[in-house]
Amino acid sequence: VNAIQQKQDVAGLFNRAAPVYGTGDDFFADVARGLVAHAAPQPGERALDIGCGRGAVLFPVAEAVGPTGRVTGIDLSPSMVELTSKEAEKLRLKTVDVHIGDAEDPDFPGSSFDLITGGMVMFFLPDIPAALRHYAKILKPGGRITMSTFVANDRLRWQPVERTLVEFMPEPPPPAPQQHLDPHSWSDGLLTQLEESDYIQIEVVEQQYDNVFPTPERWWAWTESMATRAAIEAIPADRRDEARRAAFAALETIRDESGRIVWSAVMRFTKAVAGQR
Ligand SMILES: C[S@@+](CC[C@H](N)C(=O)[O-])C[C@H]1O[C@@H](n2cnc3c(N)ncnc32)[C@H](O)[C@@H]1O
Repeated sequence: VNAIQQKQDVAGLFNRAAPVYGTGDDFFADVARGLVAHAAPQPGERALDIGCGRGAVLFPVAEAVGPTGRVTGIDLSPSMVELTSKEAEKLRLKTVDVHIGDAEDPDFPGSSFDLITGGMVMFFLPDIPAALRHYAKILKPGGRITMSTFVANDRLRWQPVERTLVEFMPEPPPPAPQQHLDPHSWSDGLLTQLEESDYIQIEVVEQQYDNVFPTPERWWAWTESMATRAAIEAIPADRRDEARRAAFAALETIRDESGRIVWSAVMRFTKAVAGQR
């Protein structure tokens, strides 16, 4: 799959997920709060949030920079942009603007931002070194980036459920974004690329998040609400009910000792400062 096709697929997928994205669980909100805490936006700062989605990072950043600051969100998915713009209007946030844009090549003049945030988005970009070079240009001298990425996910423990879904797919499952297969080495790769670019004061913090689903239905809704909906879409519509029942049966085999349905992830927050140019 070439880079352009890859981006169209990602935008299409998130367009379909946008109306329900981040609903029904606190995982995205929790990770976003963690990211904003590490980014520590200051009153009056100018920030860019790449791959802003429904604004899980964008809105807390807007709150932190306050009425004298400004936050721009960009996303490749028009539906995400539309819904998040509407939300900003509803909240009467005049310091927020949201538009369509590519996180790999954000189109802004040099030295525009004090801070760039990226919540769970870097792994969708085909050319990370190019993206990092662009960020270094549009950041003010001394400006900083903070990104969240996965370093571990529960894929192995959840394999019985995943396998059940795959059995209902006429074609092999759609390729997962590269990081989902080996998130740890992907995140280390990001670190190496930062070290090889014009960044200084690189810092990494990791934290585990446990996403507990009160019911199997909530897990299914969650799966439909984000990139993983690609797996459900790969199942013919007339077989989805059957697939869901089979997945719920498989779920029973992976409950934890306390009987909970839990999906855990270790997230990494990577921070860096744009170096001297
Ligand atoms: C997993 S969501 C994260 C959304 C939000 N940052 C959060 O933390 O909840 C990834 C988002 O990145 C967007 N995205 C993916 N590739 C992108 C690109 N090349 N440029 C801009 N946005 C992109 C998707 O459309 C989606 O809204």
